[in-house]
Amino acid sequence: MKKIHMTETVLRDANQSLIATRLSFDQFAPILHELDNAGYHSLECWGGATFDSCIRYLNEDPWERLRKIKMVAKNTPLQMLLRGQNILGYKHYPDDVVRNFIKMSVYHGMDILRIFDALNDFRNIEVAMDETKKQGAHAQGTIVYTVSPIHDIESYTKLAKQLENMGADSICLKDMAGLIMPQTAYDIVKNIKEATNIPVYLHSHSTNGLAEMAYLKAAEAGVDGIDCSISAFSSGTAQPPTESLHFALQSAGFDTGLKADSLKRINDFFKPVRDHFIKTGELDAKVLTPQPEALTYQIPGGMLSNMISQLKAQNAIDKLDEVLNEVPRVREDLGYPPLVTPMSQMVGTQATVNILTGERYKMILKEVKAYCKGEYGKAPGEINAELSKKALGEETPIEGRFADNLEPIFEKTKEELKDLTSSDEDVLSYILFPQIAEDFIKNKKKNPSVDQLREDIKADVI
Ligand code: CO
Repeated sequence: MKKIHMTETVLRDANQSLIATRLSFDQFAPILHELDNAGYHSLECWGGATFDSCIRYLNEDPWERLRKIKMVAKNTPLQMLLRGQNILGYKHYPDDVVRNFIKMSVYHGMDILRIFDALNDFRNIEVAMDETKKQGAHAQGTIVYTVSPIHDIESYTKLAKQLENMGADSICLKDMAGLIMPQTAYDIVKNIKEATNIPVYLHSHSTNGLAEMAYLKAAEAGVDGIDCSISAFSSGTAQPPTESLHFALQSAGFDTGLKADSLKRINDFFKPVRDHFIKTGELDAKVLTPQPEALTYQIPGGMLSNMISQLKAQNAIDKLDEVLNEVPRVREDLGYPPLVTPMSQMVGTQATVNILTGERYKMILKEVKAYCKGEYGKAPGEINAELSKKALGEETPIEGRFADNLEPIFEKTKEELKDLTSSDEDVLSYILFPQIAEDFIKNKKKNPSVDQLREDIKADVI
């Protein structure tokens, strides 16, 4: 029986997509043991927005959360999402910060690092992949999926080969906007499987009502693993339901490795948790049903709602159709970047500005200027020459990788913070989120310190 690896996303992506990452450790701690014994390939439980949310809203130390998860979930590999050179933020950090962050993540129990760059510029994931492997963890190279005239099966297969050549342990095709058509999923997975010799994973979202079909087609094409979330925290903007995919795949002759009775207990646990978030209003029923407008406009649902609120704030909602027509033109001018953060905001806002000022690129956003300069990486296609000239002015584009221009800052920052903290984890939290981390570090004295937890490692885990 062909095995399909199942990754559970309830602790990270489903948590992030449905309830803005507000799930606290205490809210899921009682079910960790069951999650660990259900037969999952991995538990996606950290990275993405969880780190920021822990510090900003939950008064939790993200490092401590990871350590505490690892102390209970000792059998199932833990998985995280890492934005390459951006780590968990939106700007490029110097290599020493990337390396220290990964070292500490693996040290505290991370096993699989899914590493991506918003532009599929793999120079921006090279250092992260290298350090992940140095630390003995699994480096999953990631391709961001998008739809454009320059992205096709061949271009995705080429990217997959590049990842394999870079030493990736596996490949993930990441469809964060839930745009992949089932047949496209089949074709891309089949081609990548034929062209490479490492496992291939598909990550999608039910946002447009396609992901369940895409997963099944991908399974038929030989995909090695898929991401699902337990049904109480599934569907809509999150992943397809774990149980449904388990039964569907099993009936089609696949072995998911999952135990159905375990899945039931996990779901029974999460039902009241979900009800709590519905009651507080943090889970909006609207995100639970498909919103296939994204397929009509070829833009992610989140981007559409952002543009609508921007236009409303400007009293210009009557311009929505014009802006929607402008979006693909701006995207073309920028060389067809995938519409994910931060590119989706950049393209959406520039399109809005182009319409509201009545003249294209009369005003160019500073982010667009930085993009044209190469500060985000290399555009997938050609940037419109006229726009590029106007955006750059007297400046010259950056040669090579942006992070090559950044000086190391870890040791320097550690020295600066020596009166505040002696822990490397705190220093990393501070570098990533300086405005909020300082107060957080000052206030957390009452919690068990990460230093103490580090002492526990030898006794508890290794
Ligand atoms: Co996702």
